[in-house]
Amino acid sequence: MTATVPSPNLAAGLPELPAPHRSPRPAPMFEMIPYEKFRDTPSVRFFDITVPGSNARDMVVHAGPAISPPNDPGSGAWQFYLHPHQEDNLLAMHGGRTFYLVNLGWNYPFHIVRLESGGDILRIPPGTFHRSVSDPDGSLVLNQAVREEGASVVREFRVYNSSRIPRLFAVTSRTAPLPKLHGVSW
Ligand SMILES: [Fe+2]
Repeated sequence: MTATVPSPNLAAGLPELPAPHRSPRPAPMFEMIPYEKFRDTPSVRFFDITVPGSNARDMVVHAGPAISPPNDPGSGAWQFYLHPHQEDNLLAMHGGRTFYLVNLGWNYPFHIVRLESGGDILRIPPGTFHRSVSDPDGSLVLNQAVREEGASVVREFRVYNSSRIPRLFAVTSRTAPLPKLHGVSW
């Protein structure tokens, strides 16, 4: 009989990281994807926003400066979504939102990306921790997701508390190297 060797990465009782975190570097990078704008005037905006391969749609409306997912109410620690088997393709349809992306498989793991209404589509590869903060007036974001066959919605929308995942916390803590900024200024 062989003894089970505990993971060296996580303390006992902490959640096991999904498979993409154990995959070799580099993980696929996030992308900003342009799309065809047939007409873009103050009175009429007509775009083809088709994302080939998308097989699931979700929409998130923030009425004000909301944070998704919300910070941990006890400690204030940032919390993140991570989809093991889903690619997100996010388009701001109204208002603006700032995304915080962490992928421990990227050479530079922490990026902050600005999403503007009618701007490019943000593609977030599976296995990427992500959270977003809306502008004061809120925002409406359409996600044209690509879900792998058999993906479980419960697992895809699990929330990860950074204070309970040492590597994630180390990358996003105040003492870590500053994130790379994309369309954002301090
Ligand atoms: Fe997502």
